[in-house]
Amino acid sequence: MGHIPSEVLEQAAALVDQADRVVCLTGAGVSAESGIPTFRDAQRGLWSRYRPEELASPEAFDAHPGRVWRWYMWRLGLVERARPNPGHRALAQLARLVPHLTLITQNVDSLHEAAGSPDVIHLHGRLDRFRCHDCEQPYALRPQDREADRPPSCPRCGGRVRPDVVWFGEPLPPRPWQAALAAVAACDCMWAVGTSGVVYPAAQLPQMARERGARLLVVNPEPTELDPWATITLSGPSGAVLPALVARVAARRSRAESRGGA
Ligand code: OAD
Repeated sequence: MGHIPSEVLEQAAALVDQADRVVCLTGAGVSAESGIPTFRDAQRGLWSRYRPEELASPEAFDAHPGRVWRWYMWRLGLVERARPNPGHRALAQLARLVPHLTLITQNVDSLHEAAGSPDVIHLHGRLDRFRCHDCEQPYALRPQDREADRPPSCPRCGGRVRPDVVWFGEPLPPRPWQAALAAVAACDCMWAVGTSGVVYPAAQLPQMARERGARLLVVNPEPTELDPWATITLSGPSGAVLPALVARVAARRSRAESRGGA
C-alpha cells in the first residue's frame, strides 16, 4: 500500500469530504485479511474438488443436501472464528464521519456488524441465518445441527432447512436490493472495495452510480472489471488502504471543524 502516492489518497479523501451521501459496496476481499477466503479462492483444501456451483446452488442442494449442508457448517465455523480487520473498522469509523453512509455488502459473514457498522445491507444474505427451503420459515440452528450430515427438517412443513444466503441462479432478496438501488440513486460518492465486479446484479451498482454523476473509488490490490468506471483507483489491500483513507477524511473534518470554531 506504500505505493499509493500521498496526493492520490488526498484526492480520494477530498471526494469523500465533498460528498453528502456516500455508498460503500464491499465484497469478499474486505474479509480476506480476516482469514476468510474470497469466493473465487474458497475452493481450496477439503472442498477443492467442487466448483462453487456444485455447492452453492438449488440444484446442488436438491441432488446432494448432505454435502451442501456440511460445506455450509464448515464455512459457518470459519466465519464465527473470524474477527473484523482494520478495513472493517475503518468503515465503521467512516459512518461517524460522513453525513450519510450506506454500507452494502455481498459478504455473508457479519464482520461489518462485529466492527460496529450500523444498518448493513446484505445483498447475498447471511451464513448465520437459516430458513426452510420450501416455506421460508426462519429456523434457529441447534448445536446438533452443526455436526449432522444432512440438513435439519423444518418444524412447520418438514422441508429442508438451508442457509439464508443467495445461491447461483437465485434472485436477490427484494428488500435489500431495493434499499441498495435507492441509496445508489441518491449518492454523490461510491466506493467499491474488495469486489471483483463480475457478479451481477451487485456489479451493476457502481456503474449506476457513475451514470448518475457520482464519483467512484475502487479499492483492490488487483485490477477489476470496475476500473474503467473508477474516478480514482486505490491499489492495495483494504486492511491498509481503508484506514489510511479514513484517517485522511477524519483529518480534513477536524481541520474544517477547528476553522469553523475559530
Ligand atoms: P470475488 O472472490 O469475486 O473477488 C474478491 C476480490 O477481492 C478480488 O477482486 C480480489 O482482488 C480482491 N481482494 C483480495 N484480497 C483483498 C484484500 N486484502 N483487500 C481488498 N481486496 C482484496 O468476491 P466478490 O466480488 O465479493 O455471491 O464476489 C461476489 C459474489 O460472488 C459473492 O458474494 C458470491 C460469489 O458468487 C454469492 O454468494 C451469491
